[in-house]
Amino acid sequence: MRIYKMKNYEEMSRKAAIIIAAQLTLKPDSVLGLATGSTPVGAYRRLAEMHAEGGLDFSRAATINLDEYRGLAPDDRQSYRYFMQVNLFDHINIGGGRTNVPNGLAEDAAKECHRYDGVIASFGGIDMQLLGIGQNGHIGFNEPGTAFKKDTHCVDLTESTIEANRRFFGPGEDVPKQAYTMGIGSIMGARRILLLVSGREKAGIIRESLLGPITPAVPASVLQLHGDVILVGDEPALSLI
Ligand code: PGA
Repeated sequence: MRIYKMKNYEEMSRKAAIIIAAQLTLKPDSVLGLATGSTPVGAYRRLAEMHAEGGLDFSRAATINLDEYRGLAPDDRQSYRYFMQVNLFDHINIGGGRTNVPNGLAEDAAKECHRYDGVIASFGGIDMQLLGIGQNGHIGFNEPGTAFKKDTHCVDLTESTIEANRRFFGPGEDVPKQAYTMGIGSIMGARRILLLVSGREKAGIIRESLLGPITPAVPASVLQLHGDVILVGDEPALSLI
């Protein structure tokens, strides 16, 4: 594992964007696995700037997002499809047909999971998967449990995740309780993983994930078994390792 300890969130974001840009420069038709949440927003902003100012080219790339809330429409302001449009896709030259997010409105959850696994396979897997980490150690929405689930599945979110997500919702707005997520097998199948972590409140879980036992009780601990992980964190998040 390569670890970059950066001074603050801004520096972490800059480093992450440089690594993603390097991936795209070396392999313009890269399949990028993307993530939502507050952690990658700065990196997406920087990538959009690199596209506008330096012509960073996404035209041959494809993207596959980790997860989506079940029950939300793509144009719902709380959906992850909407998040990706607003934070990245609307600012770069990538065709809509080459960006993939699970369909929150699919009627048959099992079918949607199967379809999404087919999407991942049809692109030949993921070249670089961007990941954040939840305070309970989740990656994507693979919540702590008793087994690692390999493929895309529909999960009941834990109370702590629902609470953590509440900050993005308005007063009185319901936080979805279910989500589609790529499985641990698909994440581990990515040829390279770029893990981003920011803030003192993540210091404990990042230590447990990287130095503790490998267990489904801490889903991110499985990353210890991946041969090519780049961790970019800010000083507060990496203060315990
Ligand atoms: P955050 O979420 O980036 O908003 O902290 C990370 C996650 O829950 O995976």
